[in-house]
Amino acid sequence: MSDVSRANFGSKIGAILAAAGSAVGLGNIWRFPYQTGNDGGAAFILIYIVCILCFGIPVMIAEFTIGRHSRSNTARAYQILAPGTQWKWVGRWGVLTGFLILSYYAVVAGWTLEYFLQAAGNTFIGKTPEEFAASFTSFTDNLWRPVFWLILFMFATHFIIVKGVQQGIERSAKILMPILFVLLIIMAICSILLPGSGPGLEFLLKPDFSKVNSGVLLSAMGQTFYSLSLGMGCLCTYASYFQSDTNLTKTALNVASIDSLVAILAGLIIFPAAFSVGIQPDAGPSLVFITLPNVLTQAFAGLPWLTYILSTAFYLLLALAALTSTISMHEVVTVYLHEEFKMSRRKAAWLVTSMCSIIGILCALSMGVGKEYTIFGMNLFDVFDFLTAKLMLPLGGFFISIFTGWYLDKKILHDELNSGGHLPLFVYKAIVFILRVVAPIGIGFVFINELEIL
Ligand code: PHE
Repeated sequence: MSDVSRANFGSKIGAILAAAGSAVGLGNIWRFPYQTGNDGGAAFILIYIVCILCFGIPVMIAEFTIGRHSRSNTARAYQILAPGTQWKWVGRWGVLTGFLILSYYAVVAGWTLEYFLQAAGNTFIGKTPEEFAASFTSFTDNLWRPVFWLILFMFATHFIIVKGVQQGIERSAKILMPILFVLLIIMAICSILLPGSGPGLEFLLKPDFSKVNSGVLLSAMGQTFYSLSLGMGCLCTYASYFQSDTNLTKTALNVASIDSLVAILAGLIIFPAAFSVGIQPDAGPSLVFITLPNVLTQAFAGLPWLTYILSTAFYLLLALAALTSTISMHEVVTVYLHEEFKMSRRKAAWLVTSMCSIIGILCALSMGVGKEYTIFGMNLFDVFDFLTAKLMLPLGGFFISIFTGWYLDKKILHDELNSGGHLPLFVYKAIVFILRVVAPIGIGFVFINELEIL
């Protein structure tokens, strides 16, 4: 095992921020608003919050337990905790999921670089909402630009992975997360103050349950796993670097709160602005990219220098937030190949970077020049998103809860949860009950409901 993978996060706050760095990313600022827009607004958000409490936090605690106790990559972790059994497939499933997510996630991460460049080149000022929409389409329709940015992003991730992750992740998360947070708050205020933002706020805060169907339940559940980086062993891998007295329950609560807060703030930025400038909330993956430049240009119409600074800073931070997430996915796959196939870390990283780039290129092209090639009516990019977020991650979460709730020695679970502070017995019992019963039945119910609809 390499030195890097056995290093520890130097501080407890560093551990929280590193896990939050993985969790907070495009899932919160790009995916959450467009899923909310597609699925009817406030009712979706309420279901999402219920999913975080019922599945998200307990499965995160389970992943932390598995990772810290085994101190190993996610596939090996199951072999250590359940030797000679088939549980190792849960870990391998996670590695495959991470690999697939990284491949198409890097496409959107690449878009953030294009928008950073546009913001830094001062091209936003004076554009109308229609022009922002048209310029997004002409960018994604372009044969080369999205591919170029995707590859650049994959290389940036690769570079950090081969340099060793802990130092970089911990340090950058400590500085970047708070700045991103402050910027989001400023932008949310700007958006709410735009004329005509009222219906957007209503869309976010006033639930309309008539729009809820099994598809909405599946979306909210998928978004929970996606946004919290759960169900694929990512947080399990990070927990293998936690100190032995890091309080797992508190860390999970902190990470889930930070992550949800960022998502809600993103909603508060996007919807008031979208309604204010007449952009449909169900515009899909392009929603954030056509709405955000409007927020900054309209809110400071008389102060172009402020638009310039805030938009450049925003896209830079968004790219960096995406980077801390791509690093965490890349790390899961690289450490797996490195440790299980006796490959050097460098070679493993190269393999991941090149394979993901190739698949990423196909996903990027499927949004533009290859639009007409669809599978079940979806382009390749959407197929990857559907397959990973709505099927693979929740399925991973299902087995992780069953493993921890039913199979794992309860003494291990109790000791891990108890370290770093005394866990009240009723909290421990509640966690076990949720992992044994509530999470598996809940996830199973959502799946079965959706299948009946198909
Ligand atoms: N949670 C990340 C985000 O919100 C995405 C991610 C998913 C990262 C799964 C790792 C694993 O952007």
